[in-house]
Amino acid sequence: MNDAQGRRVLVFDTTLRDGEQSPGATMTLEEKLQIAAKLELLGVDVIEAGFPVASPGELECVRAIAGVVKSASVAALCRTRQGDIEAAWEAIREAAHPRLHVFIATSDLHLHHKLRMTRAEVLDEIARGVAACRALCADVEFSAEDATRSDPDFLAEAMAVAVRAGATVLNVPDTVGYAVPHEYGALIARIVAVAGDRAIVSAHCHDDLGLAVANSLAAVAAGARQVECCVNGIGERAGNAALEEVVMALRTRHDALGCETGINPRHLVAVSRLVSDVTGFPMQPNKAIVGRNAFAHESGIHQHGVLTERTTYEIMDPAEVGFATTSLVLGKHSGRHALGARLAELGYEVDGETLADVFARFKALGERKKQVYDEDLRALMSQHAATVAGRFTLRDVRFAGGLQATATGAVTLLCGDEEVSRESAGDGPVDAVLAAIREAAGSSAFLEDYTISAVTGGADAQGRVYVGISDGAIRARGQAAHTDVVVASALAFVDALNGLDRAQQSAIAAVAE
Ligand code: KIV
Ligand code: ZN
Repeated sequence: MNDAQGRRVLVFDTTLRDGEQSPGATMTLEEKLQIAAKLELLGVDVIEAGFPVASPGELECVRAIAGVVKSASVAALCRTRQGDIEAAWEAIREAAHPRLHVFIATSDLHLHHKLRMTRAEVLDEIARGVAACRALCADVEFSAEDATRSDPDFLAEAMAVAVRAGATVLNVPDTVGYAVPHEYGALIARIVAVAGDRAIVSAHCHDDLGLAVANSLAAVAAGARQVECCVNGIGERAGNAALEEVVMALRTRHDALGCETGINPRHLVAVSRLVSDVTGFPMQPNKAIVGRNAFAHESGIHQHGVLTERTTYEIMDPAEVGFATTSLVLGKHSGRHALGARLAELGYEVDGETLADVFARFKALGERKKQVYDEDLRALMSQHAATVAGRFTLRDVRFAGGLQATATGAVTLLCGDEEVSRESAGDGPVDAVLAAIREAAGSSAFLEDYTISAVTGGADAQGRVYVGISDGAIRARGQAAHTDVVVASALAFVDALNGLDRAQQSAIAAVAE
């Protein structure tokens, strides 16, 4: 399986598990299902859906994802403990292609300080845990947590035990992002030799030193045939290897690495935007592959070169990863059909009520903004996705402020069936408006974070606002885009209040059960 002829690299996406471990990236079930559908469309081989033993809610989430994903494998993470394994299996047993992903640490540091186990005990635990997984599921991945800080001889022994117990994938996590490429490649080569043709070897790299993608590519060069990654490189601490970067490096430098994935790169931008919206982590403009500026040319020399011959300064075609060939698309006179067709080109299949809603938003935007770009359309789509009927609806918002004046805000909010109007002063119009909304909603939620970015360039660009709020126990996120940033802030805050309300209702229901 690891022979040099096997050139297909499996893409194992862990956005919904390791990615969700990014501080502040908790996702709802609906959001996870949306992302899973896009990942399947993208062509990933494995979707790691979660860690079912963590909570009954997490188990249900993984089960729901396992129920809808058809072409990709669905993996559930578990420790070697029997209870973990049973919860993980319970969650994925109905999947079309289930995979159990079992792990235990192998570094002396973890054995001593965390597990309080001897090496011999860990080997026993691996043999028992992997065999227990294999008794349930034909596809079993074993991960040696903190592999890169483990004694390589012990790691090789642990992997040999796992493969004898039936593991079909051996994963070598660089859990703390400590490895450097040549060293990680050598470690992978050693484990490839242990695996022989009984298992494939997988790379799982964290980005603490900014080397996650480089290490993943070194692993592929050394014989790894699975790469674990997250969309936009999100994940624990500094994140995981970015899926879009690994995939496009393998594709663009096929001459150097000689391997292929099953990914259709045209969906990369759409899935990246979705994950950014859902997590509330705005995309840095210069982000490789999917950032707004990834294909923008500023210097005159570069612009001239690209206009004469694109490949002078572009190693990839922007259309290949899902950017439009032309960025100016529609205006206020464009019709519903043109909008639907453009959205389909961007990877959104919309019709019926969804198209009607997005079209109404598009027309309203067209009144405020002469040119509607693809990024604006993506923002409209995420606004539409965020409009799950909630308890609160913003009916009106007014505000005033200035260099010498105290800022004031006034809002009318529909709270259930009741219309409530409130006014407030604040430290700037955003603060004043949010205070008025909080009062109207009768909420004590406080703002934990607030981010604003321009959707496109130009003075009439929409501002996209992400907010994170909390009531002390529960956190929720909201987002919105509008050409007026104060209005965008108000809409994002109301979106977050609806999220908080839904989370509070389900917490109450869970207690009542
Ligand atoms: O980073 C890590 O070690 C992990 C394992 C659980 C695979 O995420
Ligand atoms: Zn990890």
